[in-house]
Amino acid sequence: MVSIKIKIQDLKKEFGGQWVTDSLSLDIESSKMTVVLGKSGEGKSVLLKQIIGLIKPTSGAIFIDGIDSTKATQQELDEIFKQFGYVFQSAALLDSLNVFENIGITLLEKGKSVQAVLPIVKEALELVHLEEETLYKYPSQLSGGMKKRVGLARTLVTKPNIILYDEPTTGLDPITARVIHELMHSMQKTFNLTSVVISHDLDILNFADTVALLHDGKIRYNGPAKTAWDSDNPYINQFLRGSSVGPIQTDTTDKHR
Ligand SMILES: Nc1ncnc2c1ncn2[C@@H]1O[C@H](COP(=O)(O)OP(=O)(O)OP(=O)(O)O)[C@@H](O)[C@H]1O
Ligand SMILES: [Mg+2]
Repeated sequence: MVSIKIKIQDLKKEFGGQWVTDSLSLDIESSKMTVVLGKSGEGKSVLLKQIIGLIKPTSGAIFIDGIDSTKATQQELDEIFKQFGYVFQSAALLDSLNVFENIGITLLEKGKSVQAVLPIVKEALELVHLEEETLYKYPSQLSGGMKKRVGLARTLVTKPNIILYDEPTTGLDPITARVIHELMHSMQKTFNLTSVVISHDLDILNFADTVALLHDGKIRYNGPAKTAWDSDNPYINQFLRGSSVGPIQTDTTDKHR
């Protein structure tokens, strides 16, 4: 049976007369990886921020485990968002803190001792395949790929059920991007996570279960990632084949059969 973790219903968000999210509906399945594709500026980050409560929708509903987060009390929200992890578009590490402190920050801030946090951080570091000697380096001493891994490790120590990734491979070379995708996939399987990935890196389709395409504020395609390349939906077809110049073709003549 399909179990829905996040149900987005008729979501609208306006910024200065522009409907960045425009009657958007999307079901996100439990324990699966859903990727939301879309060109730059289509509103992917705005969608993610509405899911996590950083941006308040103009109207519509976002049910998380059946509770509408747009109408929930602060107490309910605290409970809901406890299970979320968010991996930012930039790794968003704190430059003045070393890797150990960056990964352990949420636990250290809760008053846990360094001795208590160290094994947890080491375990997370191992999960993202970073050497222990990385612990005492500073962000300026790390490559882009290493920073993304540290960002992922920082999220993992909070033991989330749901991880939202905003452009986890932007700025990385294709080989490092593949390694990050493999890591995200293995995290999802190991911890039975619900993952939502915002991306325009098509390599993610090799790892995702479902793909949704965002265009003009709406989901224009929603289907299995494996068959996305074979779809005759004009929006996904055009996005995947890179012919992003000019308006979306709505001619649905099937050229693939
Ligand atoms: N806080 C804000 N106030 C006003 N407009 C905003 C705000 N945040 C985003 N926007 C606008 O919403 C639109 C979508 O932005 P968003 O950051 O979601 O795009 P994106 O799809 O994530 O792009 P990228 O792939 O470049 O990250 C843009 O036109 C942006 O200017
Ligand atoms: Mg973005």
